[in-house]
Amino acid sequence: MGLERHLKSNSEQEKNDPRTFVFDPMDMEQAREESDAADIMNNRTILITGGAGFIGSHVVRRFVSRYPQCRIINLDALTYAGNLGNLEDLGVAANHVFVKADIRDAEAMRRIFAEHDPDGVIHLAAESHVDRSISDPMAFVETNVTGTVNLLNAAREHWKGNFGGKRFYHVSTDEVYGSLHDGGFFLETTPYDPQSPYSASKAASDHFVRAYGNTYKLPYVISNCSNNYGSHQFPEKLIPLMINNIRHNKPLPVYGKGENVRDWLWVEDHAAAIDLIFHEGADGETYNIGGHNEWKNIDLVHLLCATMDRKLGRAEGESAKLITYVTDRAGHDLRYAIDAGKIGRELGWKPSITFEQGLERTVDWYLANDAWLQGVTSGAYRDYYAAQYGDR
Ligand SMILES: NC(=O)c1ccc[n+]([C@@H]2O[C@H](COP(=O)([O-])OP(=O)(O)OC[C@H]3O[C@@H](n4cnc5c(N)ncnc54)[C@H](O)[C@@H]3O)[C@@H](O)[C@H]2O)c1
Repeated sequence: MGLERHLKSNSEQEKNDPRTFVFDPMDMEQAREESDAADIMNNRTILITGGAGFIGSHVVRRFVSRYPQCRIINLDALTYAGNLGNLEDLGVAANHVFVKADIRDAEAMRRIFAEHDPDGVIHLAAESHVDRSISDPMAFVETNVTGTVNLLNAAREHWKGNFGGKRFYHVSTDEVYGSLHDGGFFLETTPYDPQSPYSASKAASDHFVRAYGNTYKLPYVISNCSNNYGSHQFPEKLIPLMINNIRHNKPLPVYGKGENVRDWLWVEDHAAAIDLIFHEGADGETYNIGGHNEWKNIDLVHLLCATMDRKLGRAEGESAKLITYVTDRAGHDLRYAIDAGKIGRELGWKPSITFEQGLERTVDWYLANDAWLQGVTSGAYRDYYAAQYGDR
């Protein structure tokens, strides 16, 4: 029977609608006990934080499907960026347990460790949008720094120095290295030089993870990845924002002159790298992950416009007329570029598809999933979760 009957919906139609995906934590608890009986607990339990977000949902999907013998505890506060509809295609999976919790709540983290007894943590939960960090830096300190330290404390206290087979994997960003002005690439040894409140909060959390490794011998790995793109990304980020605006003939806001350069990686290749590092990375090591794929923002926007013209049957150049230059982001880093040589040499990872292939798939996904886009942009799913969970 598994967990099937514990995922409820009022109708089949609602079941297929990300905005009405219903999840009942009380029933989940009962279901967990049944799953225990099915022997899932005899294998590893992995706690993934931020699993309802963009990258986290791809990591959860990958782990739940590839490792049916492992129990995946998906911990997420379901902020504006978290949406269980991102995992709707997983359907009912007996090894997937969702826990709604906030990493800022130290006591809740202790309770969850005691209850679920994870062997490993893959920590992705974060405030992740640079623009939001400029308008509200404290939110980034609280979630990205304090939240990470709460998890480290919970892991350390729960594992009590018995670290055999345990691992704390912290997922971070290339933005901690600052901005490249004179060529070159970020290596794992590049000194940290964060320039935005977002990257400063991620840098601080990286430092705490290493400090816990050094001070308490907590086994950890860290990865720093470049910009991700793909399905299920909240449309405040560049690629889904542009796709959505092109589709609806809205202005395409480009910061400054669009000269900023970013390295782009398909999110499923990031999830594959995380899987590899979690299982085969060496304790205490850092791995840079990137797509060897640098684009100036303005060139990327033009590529998206041309792709969308083709897909929507518009005249060539039609969508590009929507490009609107706006005042640059404060302290906007000029260029990020990752040298992903170490993970290639030591773990054999490389991107599985080209940028052109990834972008085609991504555009196709957003065009085919307008209901998802409309749901997250209208905030309907947030109203739904507020009503569903209230102050639980
Ligand atoms: N998006 C990128 O290009 C990129 C690149 C490199 C690294 N990263 C890192 O990867 C991780 C995931 O990024 P993303 O783009 O998927 O982010 P996202 O904003 O899409 O998702 C973040 C998730 O964390 C959850 N969350 C936020 N605050 C929380 C809290 N206090 N307690 C529990 N859950 C909380 C949200 O509900 C959401 O589901 C982040 O740590 C980010 O720094 C992102």
